[in-house]
Amino acid sequence: MKTIDFTKYPMPRMRHHVNPTLYLPYESHHKRPYWYPPLIEEHTWSDHFANSNPPTVLDIGCGRGGLLLQYALEHPEINILGLELRKQAVEWINTVIKGEAIPNAAAFWYSVVNNVPFIQDHSIDTVFYFFPDPWHKKRHHKRRLFSVEFLNELNRIMKPEACLYLMTDVETVDEYQQESIKQHNIFTFRYCNNDDEWNLPKTDQEKFSIRKGIPYRRLIVTKKK
Ligand SMILES: C[S@@+](CC[C@H](N)C(=O)[O-])C[C@H]1O[C@@H](n2cnc3c(N)ncnc32)[C@H](O)[C@@H]1O
Repeated sequence: MKTIDFTKYPMPRMRHHVNPTLYLPYESHHKRPYWYPPLIEEHTWSDHFANSNPPTVLDIGCGRGGLLLQYALEHPEINILGLELRKQAVEWINTVIKGEAIPNAAAFWYSVVNNVPFIQDHSIDTVFYFFPDPWHKKRHHKRRLFSVEFLNELNRIMKPEACLYLMTDVETVDEYQQESIKQHNIFTFRYCNNDDEWNLPKTDQEKFSIRKGIPYRRLIVTKKK
């Protein structure tokens, strides 16, 4: 399998904090500020994937794309799309994709709080949503992407029995996500402690947690038939 020599792609310094309005829906802005990612209604997939097919795997909040790029190399027959609201991260990921001529990976600068109208109904096999920003304070909870509305949108785009993979190192986020899933009744979920079953490349945040000895939880959420 091909490997990427990342020394060829120096990563720009990225600010950890971005403008908080990025986490709110587009319609909450009177006029789109220049720092807000454009809305996407539809896409010509041949502009992004060599086989012209739509993606079947989404990495929501893909960050610097560590999992996205490795997953694409390991599964050359599967199109994976990353969605990320940090513009610099997306530009860097797309530089690597172009430099390495990876035919089955793409990343869009996009805030998923606006839903994903450019993804067709029942077209997605797998969704990754890893290490979401926790937004601990109650008054900041509205910035969390995970909500009943988000699950409605996942229900629309996921095939029956498709899986949503969740990982977090914040216990209260795990509990909050489980509560949202229970309210929905369209998904079942279980913890996954088995590496063989999980069988995914590590994300950048996951590698950080491992290095620092920070425990984290993994959940597999399955859409009912
Ligand atoms: C803590 S990082 C985790 C990155 C990556 N998933 C990982 O595990 O290494 C969370 C990422 O989600 C992105 N994010 C948060 N809200 C988002 C939204 N509404 N739409 C798209 N990306 C979002 C953030 O910009 C950030 O890069």
